[in-house]
Amino acid sequence: MTISGKRIVITGGASGLGLELVRQLATNNEIIVIARESGGLKQLGGDYPEMTIFKADLSDDSAVKQAATDLAAQFPAIDGLINNAALQYTPSFLDPEFKYDQIAKEIATNFTTPAQLCYLLLPSLLRGSQPFILNVNSGLGLVPKTSSAIYCATKGGLNIFSQALQNQLEQTDVSVLQAFLPLVDTAMTEGRGDGKLPPDRVASDIIRGIAARKADIDIGKVKLLRPISRFMPGLARKIMKSG
Ligand SMILES: NC(=O)c1ccc[n+]([C@@H]2O[C@H](COP(=O)([O-])OP(=O)(O)OC[C@H]3O[C@@H](n4cnc5c(N)ncnc54)[C@H](OP(=O)(O)O)[C@@H]3O)[C@@H](O)[C@H]2O)c1
Repeated sequence: MTISGKRIVITGGASGLGLELVRQLATNNEIIVIARESGGLKQLGGDYPEMTIFKADLSDDSAVKQAATDLAAQFPAIDGLINNAALQYTPSFLDPEFKYDQIAKEIATNFTTPAQLCYLLLPSLLRGSQPFILNVNSGLGLVPKTSSAIYCATKGGLNIFSQALQNQLEQTDVSVLQAFLPLVDTAMTEGRGDGKLPPDRVASDIIRGIAARKADIDIGKVKLLRPISRFMPGLARKIMKSG
């Protein structure tokens, strides 16, 4: 099952999982990327000269608003929004390298911006064909690990937000979906953990889930984590605590 003939907006499409999603979807779809200035973004523009790119630092409220407004003006109808961009700071509150300013930046990038893009691009989505919103989530949005408390909270918040938005949009054609990822081998997890999934496999699982309009696209070990967290929450907390 795949997706074709759609106009899809992807945040953070210049690297990591976002780039894999771009690569796999660009063959049969029109892709629009919102990403910040970087070497990867320059490369993306070179590899896909036809692709429309909006530059924005997605932790910056006014940049997000400007990019979404420009995008909606240029594309009155879109068929999909993939909120992929995020960041994860790993220090704990007790670590000397933990920085106060990181709290607001992580919340803005991982939670506020996806919610704002859903709102600002909703009129364009409502004019799209079988439109969808796909919020990229994490097993850590179901059960937290010990480090990265703000990251876990942003993903937990994104989960609740996505469910509520799904309720709000029930009477429209827009589907609100989430992909819950285990450890994936990208820059975000460099030097951490074993058994990471390759991003190309994760991207194809996500695309299959979108095509099937699966509300919760659980990938890899999250397929196990979800029932454990439901039926044995204490065990799930214990397993994830050491992560
Ligand atoms: N990797 C994992 O194990 C894992 C597990 C669960 C969920 N996820 C989720 O998967 C998604 C993709 O992450 P990833 O693994 O591909 O990590 P990644 O390689 O670190 O990529 C993160 C993406 O977000 C973009 N980004 C971060 N801050 C930004 C900002 N202020 N403005 C604009 N773009 C920004 C990055 O852009 P640049 O290219 O400019 O850096 C990059 O494209 C995220 O939502 C993440 O939470 C990942």
